[in-house]
Amino acid sequence: MALLPIYTAPDPLLKTVSKPVEEVNDEIRRLIGDMFDTMYAAPGIGLAAIQVGVQKRLLVVDVVGRGQEGKEPEPLALINPEITWVSDHDATYEEGCLSVPEHYADVVRPAEIEVEYLDENGKKQSLHADGLLATCIQHEIDHLDGILFLDHLSALKRNMILRKLIKQKKLAS
Ligand code: NI
Repeated sequence: MALLPIYTAPDPLLKTVSKPVEEVNDEIRRLIGDMFDTMYAAPGIGLAAIQVGVQKRLLVVDVVGRGQEGKEPEPLALINPEITWVSDHDATYEEGCLSVPEHYADVVRPAEIEVEYLDENGKKQSLHADGLLATCIQHEIDHLDGILFLDHLSALKRNMILRKLIKQKKLAS
């Protein structure tokens, strides 16, 4: 087990487009394990590889989480995910992000999605998601394309949060 450092905005790496995983091998499975450890420790419900500095199209989610009373964790790793369908109706959730610490804002996204991906064994899978899981997967896939939830907000709101993040980083250094 290893905890990986999480990159935070406005780090330019977070604005880059990640590359497809060419082979699902032990190195990828080890990265997935470390990403789950890092996400649960944070704690968070989703993490994309680029957030730990790895430019690969890979993400982990668990909207139930570890350690919740009476609930089994539901870890899910998606490699090279592609959204193949979105619903006409939208849902609004207050989103946060491990790369945008301590800031939250409402984001509107399609309420339901279908996504195709490779699992940890390199097997093609598809998933229909709604509720928080649908939002979370869309948020994480955005990361693979260099998009943060801040990019869904007005420029005014986005810049206000970015200025605060820069200030926080200066205070911490
Ligand atoms: Ni995020």
